[in-house]
Amino acid sequence: MNQSIGFLGTGRIAEPMIRSLSRRFPNSTILVSARSLEISTRVETLHNVSVSPNQNILEQCKIVFICLLANTAREVLPQLEFTSTQEIISVMADISLEEVSSLITPASNPCVTIPLPFIEQGGCPLPVYPESPVLETLFGDENDVITLSSESAIPPHFAATAILSSTMKQLDVVAHWLGEHAGSQRNGERYVANLVSGYLGAMPRDGAGRFKEAMEDLSTEGGLNNQLRQLITESGHYETLRDGLEQLHRRLKAAAG
Ligand SMILES: NC(=O)c1ccc[n+]([C@@H]2O[C@H](COP(=O)([O-])OP(=O)(O)OC[C@H]3O[C@@H](n4cnc5c(N)ncnc54)[C@H](OP(=O)(O)O)[C@@H]3O)[C@@H](O)[C@H]2O)c1
Repeated sequence: MNQSIGFLGTGRIAEPMIRSLSRRFPNSTILVSARSLEISTRVETLHNVSVSPNQNILEQCKIVFICLLANTAREVLPQLEFTSTQEIISVMADISLEEVSSLITPASNPCVTIPLPFIEQGGCPLPVYPESPVLETLFGDENDVITLSSESAIPPHFAATAILSSTMKQLDVVAHWLGEHAGSQRNGERYVANLVSGYLGAMPRDGAGRFKEAMEDLSTEGGLNNQLRQLITESGHYETLRDGLEQLHRRLKAAAG
């Protein structure tokens, strides 16, 4: 890949995407909006990244990522001239593809995906709708590009990203508890981080019912894992989790119109 790749918006999610592309496609040219001075100054130190006015980005780049807040996109995109051959990839959570399409004419058929900040290191799941060979080429070598069957599958994927913070909370509770009882907070955190990442790292990520399989493996009658899971199940924790996801899903669907 030695094409020019553009980014409208140089914020929190654009930065790790830019860094990933810069590292893996050293012969490409990456043009990014002259915004978010701290971030754009940082990424401009990468050998193949330059800061540029938005319209110039569109003139130079066939592939353009839109990494704006939805309301900014509504204001800014209609003032820009797109071309009909441009490949547009939106990462915006709360705006429909129909509306994005109306803002980028004559470009058409944008896709939407959900990158997460750790895309910089790879291993990021990238749900996308519709299928995007360009996204696959740019990120598929080290991230799992998951093509969705409809746009309505995007909001629940955004909602599911919200489990990260509560999962960290759960791990932090265990690490602290272990630290208190075993005499070292540092070792407690090391132990829990390796326990979980080692277990997940060894698990195939082929979507073939592996969570269920793992739970069965960890469900020895009278075993430690079994006892703790049962206790947490009885507390209503998992119903709360499902309710919370439903709430987020409703919120995201309403925002996307
Ligand atoms: N953060 C995440 O983890 C994440 C994950 C998935 C999807 N998303 C989606 O990604 C989008 C961006 O989120 P974010 O967290 O990266 O937000 P952010 O950090 O606020 O980034 C927004 C960017 O847009 C720039 N901007 C504002 N006006 C502009 C203009 N006229 N021309 C060009 N750029 C302009 C901002 O620059 P200034 O700072 O100079 O205003 C900033 O660089 C959102 O729609 C969000 O739903 C975010």
